[in-house]
Amino acid sequence: MTPNSTYDILIIGSGGAGLSLALHLAPFSKIAMISKGSLKEANTYYAQGGISAVLDKSDSLESHIGDTLLAGAGLCKKNIVEKVVAQGKACIEELHQKGVVFTHQKKADGHLEYHLTKEGGHSHRRVVHAADATGNAIQNSLVQRAIEHPNIELFDDHIAVDLITGNKLGLKNNQCFGAYIFDRKTEKVILVKSIFTVLATGGASKTYLYTSNPDISTGDGIAMAWRSGCRVANMEFIQFHPTCLYHPEAKSSLISEAVRGEGGLLTLPDGTRFMPDYHEKAELAPRDIVARAIDQEMKKRGIDCVYLDIHHKSPEFIKSHFPNLYSKCLKFGYDMTKQAIPVVPAAHYTCGGVVTDENAQTDIPHLYAIGEVASTGLHGANRMASNSLLECLAFARFAANDIKVKLNTDVTMPEIPEWDESQVTDSDEEVLVPHNWGELRRFMWDYVGIVRTNKRLERAQRRIKLLQHEIAEYYGHFKVTNDLLELRNLVTVAELIVESAMLRKESRGLHYTLDYPEKLATSSDTILIPKKTI
Ligand code: FAD
Ligand code: SIN
Repeated sequence: MTPNSTYDILIIGSGGAGLSLALHLAPFSKIAMISKGSLKEANTYYAQGGISAVLDKSDSLESHIGDTLLAGAGLCKKNIVEKVVAQGKACIEELHQKGVVFTHQKKADGHLEYHLTKEGGHSHRRVVHAADATGNAIQNSLVQRAIEHPNIELFDDHIAVDLITGNKLGLKNNQCFGAYIFDRKTEKVILVKSIFTVLATGGASKTYLYTSNPDISTGDGIAMAWRSGCRVANMEFIQFHPTCLYHPEAKSSLISEAVRGEGGLLTLPDGTRFMPDYHEKAELAPRDIVARAIDQEMKKRGIDCVYLDIHHKSPEFIKSHFPNLYSKCLKFGYDMTKQAIPVVPAAHYTCGGVVTDENAQTDIPHLYAIGEVASTGLHGANRMASNSLLECLAFARFAANDIKVKLNTDVTMPEIPEWDESQVTDSDEEVLVPHNWGELRRFMWDYVGIVRTNKRLERAQRRIKLLQHEIAEYYGHFKVTNDLLELRNLVTVAELIVESAMLRKESRGLHYTLDYPEKLATSSDTILIPKKTI
């Protein structure tokens, strides 16, 4: 990627959403795809459980739609749910054709069919998977296809700094014309122009101290879109996955919900089950309910973790269904075939994000957002398990169709200034970045976590203002680095989460506050509108 290059499409992010879109559009256009780390380092790579799709004869689209609406606690957009769920079978077929090998089982007649698992909130087995490492299978296949395609140029270690829009250039036409991008190897910011720009940057769970996500999940796309003038919605709905391995050295170690789907039970240290006291579906209740129940039991009893127990199943069953989880737990000293494993909840998924329409178009012309970065209306107040990969693939299709139609319209590229470093120097106080990073993630965990109160949110808001001031000052004086860019984005996302949480005067889905513990009879999305573009 050379400075001043112009592409038809710039895709920021090489996870499932970005890769799938690139492969749809590559036959028609010249594409640049950037990834801030390695091409494979994305949430998609770590997905375990699978992708939901209606494939079983006893299942139906209506049932999948109904379950999604129920989990979303009244805030899903029904037309979007219907549109996405209808794509399930086609998306699985698409992945199969791109070389993804899913787990199969033998039918009574000897033929093979997809093995389907069940997860929280689903009333049928409908999760297609590649053992317990579905994301790995998807990411490897899609990255390989993208590398092979002559129309896709891939750039790892390139982090988008900010979008370039008409407004920022002082034009009447507020179109997106590309982005400034920091090359982590040369440490230079380059200007990349594009007719269409797509945010496929994933979520923001790194805003929290404990998370199932890899380090890339710093909400960059949400923060960049917000600074450029896009609306952002439903940021209070941060999903905490109920079961991450509790071990000091097990960073970001998710234990798939599929373990509970296949009979895993949640217990207290003495072996007693507690989920039947909280919900009729017990361990397979929607995620918000399970995570909150665990949090409540841990706080009530002063215990550091609860336990996930599947050792009543045969060792063969456990090792064949969960080969990777089995090895991972063993590495940390826990044998799933013989004992219960210690688990805790951790930040897992950002349900809100950049507001898009049903074609993934944002408020800024020629700027799209797909995958976890977007707020499409599919998830409402709580995402149902395995609906996220489906959303990535379905919205990649919708965006591709929309962009394809518009590809041949004439766009005049305006004069765009190069990145200006003349006013900044190398930092003389880099300690500010890791210090503020650690502080932010800790108070977000303590004050804006699974259970919130007005007081805790106010405390977090005060601290965010202070950090924002310090970070803006630092950003204005010193050359950018990867960590500084991510910190700047994290603090913006934290502000949006807290502001949204303060606006919601009820408890609904993933947002639970002791000050308003009840769900209101009617409710709507929390939509934040930026006051100014930066
Ligand atoms: P990602 O896959 O996260 O990709 C984001 C990309 O954007 C990366 O390439 C990153 O480098 C890049 N990027 C970010 N910021 C910048 C920037 N500023 N500049 C350049 N590049 C940038 N969902 C399911 O449906 N089923 C599951 O079984 C499942 N299991 C999961 C297990 C784990 C452990 C985790 C963490 C999540 C799981 N999820 C699952 C959620 C799902 O994996 C994600 O929501 C989904 O993969 C998001 O895909 P994406 O393409 O939107 O983003
Ligand atoms: C899991 O395997 O438990 C994660 C599934 C998801 O987040 O959709």
